[in-house]
Amino acid sequence: MATSPVKLFRQAKARGERVVMISLYDAPSAVLAVEAGADVLLVGDSMGNVILGYDDPVPVTMEAMVHHTGAVARGVRASENPDVPVIADLSFGSYATAEQAVENAVRLMRAGANAVKLEGAGPLAVEAAETLVQVGVPVAGHLGYTPQSKNNFERIVQGKTGADATEILAGARRLEAAGCFAVVLEVMPSEVAARITEELSMSTVGIGAGPDCDAQVLVFHDLVGLSLGKPLRFAKRYVEGYNIFSEATAKFVEEARSGAFPAPENGWVMDPEELRSWRE
Ligand code: KIV
Ligand code: NA
Repeated sequence: MATSPVKLFRQAKARGERVVMISLYDAPSAVLAVEAGADVLLVGDSMGNVILGYDDPVPVTMEAMVHHTGAVARGVRASENPDVPVIADLSFGSYATAEQAVENAVRLMRAGANAVKLEGAGPLAVEAAETLVQVGVPVAGHLGYTPQSKNNFERIVQGKTGADATEILAGARRLEAAGCFAVVLEVMPSEVAARITEELSMSTVGIGAGPDCDAQVLVFHDLVGLSLGKPLRFAKRYVEGYNIFSEATAKFVEEARSGAFPAPENGWVMDPEELRSWRE
């Protein structure tokens, strides 16, 4: 049975141990991430820009979130550590009312999620979070740069002024009061994330928010160098996966065109007896 994400984050914060989360969308990357040691997986709506070819998560539907959550959950279950919990994003517009939030969170939980995440700390988001927690759905929040509402932002880095930082801190307090077990802090000065981490008892999960968060999250395609476009500073590419896969793919194209592939070991031949009689 999956470890409760609530328990996992609470225990790690109490022990002062950092939690490592990876955002990904399919079974093989889930197996890989779990077997590489990730503590918790996120099925992020970043799939919109990362794998679905959109500019942002806005067009990502609940159907897509449910579909990919199922794939990730099946991957985890088939892995070496099948108890790793899965958090799934509620998609853009899917938690505008508390009832909608419950309906959509239930779909994600049925698909294999162990918790959901939603963006913002306005009255509707807080009400949705509170209702979900009452229903029994663990909820993570998401503050700072929140990609679903990117059309409202003038800049990516949030919380650069004292007033903005205070607003993020106040939002985090509201999410904690609503019962959230964690909050993602995206793209803000490290001092702001550090203060939220210190003042709140729920866990903070940083992405572009400095080293003092209780947890860190990166997108799988970013860290293996498979995402397209200019990476933001926090998206450290640990390997240039694009180049590695590109070379391999070009080799296949060349060999398939020249006839060097497939070699005998890539195929099957008929039993010689059978072949003789078949040809007669
Ligand atoms: O969608 C996503 O991948 C996320 C993380 C970057 C936190 O929300
Ligand atoms: Na997201």
